[in-house]
Amino acid sequence: GGAGLLGLGGGVVLGTGVALGTQRLLPDRPNPVEAARRAAVAAVAGDGRHQPGIAERAPAHLIFTAYDLISTEPTAVRSALAALLRTWTSASAVLMRGEPTAGAERDTAGLGPAALTVTVGLGASALRRAGLDTRIPGPLADIPALPGDRIDAARGGGDLAVQVCAEDPMVAYSAARQLRRIAAAYVQPRWVQRGFQRTAAGAADPDATPRNLMGQVDGTDNPRPGTAQFDLAVWAADGPAWMRGGTYVVCRRIRMLLDSWDRLTEAAQSEVIGRRKSDGAPLSAPPADQGGGETTAPDFAARTADGRPAIAVNAHIRLAHPQFHGGVAMFRRGYSYDDGLDATGEPDAGLFFQAYQADPRTAFVPVQRALAASDALSTFIRHTSNALFAIPPAPPPGGFLAQQLLD
Ligand code: HEM
Repeated sequence: GGAGLLGLGGGVVLGTGVALGTQRLLPDRPNPVEAARRAAVAAVAGDGRHQPGIAERAPAHLIFTAYDLISTEPTAVRSALAALLRTWTSASAVLMRGEPTAGAERDTAGLGPAALTVTVGLGASALRRAGLDTRIPGPLADIPALPGDRIDAARGGGDLAVQVCAEDPMVAYSAARQLRRIAAAYVQPRWVQRGFQRTAAGAADPDATPRNLMGQVDGTDNPRPGTAQFDLAVWAADGPAWMRGGTYVVCRRIRMLLDSWDRLTEAAQSEVIGRRKSDGAPLSAPPADQGGGETTAPDFAARTADGRPAIAVNAHIRLAHPQFHGGVAMFRRGYSYDDGLDATGEPDAGLFFQAYQADPRTAFVPVQRALAASDALSTFIRHTSNALFAIPPAPPPGGFLAQQLLD
């Protein structure tokens, strides 16, 4: 017990599985809130092949830090990279077990691992600075400038990246701080993005698709981890040995113009995406009371009674759907962000979009080109940063991340 009081399905549920009100939970029935609480404090083991922090359910807090190398001479850069990646590999394992690294602050005393994951990436610029230009994998080619971009270069790019995710904000901050501290001889931080989403313990169903700050169910038609479609879309199957079983993450800080979005009716908001805002069902689906729902497949040929496409020609899901991109999918695992107010007093909030794929040249880039050209959502968003990192596979026991690149 001990999960406290949480509203669930109209009844008030106690952490022990006793229910008050309309819904009665039998004592031996698994309590989803208690299960979520346990998941929220557990350690993530990883699968040994891929880095953690990608396929696991995204915990509530994100701290994504990009770094630039301090050395300028290629040989020094290569040895700095090897020393740093060795250090980060071993520190990540310690932190993910819920232990502090040597000399850490006492800030997480009394807290568990909180589903902490650490994910490390390399930018193409790191390889260039190390004199390894000829070994930059094709998929790590710089994302071209795209129509509509309003990119702030200081908020993007970077030689290295460390993504920390955790269910507890103290655990996340502490891990990000420790990983920064032990890297200080080799790199300096370039930009940091914090993100958030609903907590596992706060959700009635922690496995339900979460919503973004526009209120939409976001993540419905994502490849599902553990399926062949996911493996094909996300993990690099060929290319250099140091990246096989790895992936490439595109990060875009996308500001939402929430005040103008709020002025649309809910029906108009649903049209923009092509899905009902209420339950995430495609607009081609039958009403909820006739079985239409979030998992109903979209029918892009369907028409309304008055002959218009049920899913508009400029709807976000039509322009982004793999069906119109040669079947190529990507795995979206972004976080909401709230960076306060800008200089004019407008909210600076939105989506820190993160997409994992085996090759951005055939996934993110063509999809974003199509979206930039005609997406109805474009009026309400602004892409303000851009970064791309290679995420190597998990290191073998005793080895370190990207070791084969640096040996
Ligand atoms: C689908 C929102 C940016 C690619 C969706 C859905 C929503 C959504 C609500 C429908 C539910 C789902 O399947 O997840 C947003 C918002 C964005 C944004 C609010 C910006 C703030 C992007 C960007 C890309 C993208 C930049 C890629 C370049 C996709 C894809 C789908 C999708 C591939 C699935 C389409 C399908 O298979 O039906 N998005 N999106 N989105 N979005 Fe976005």
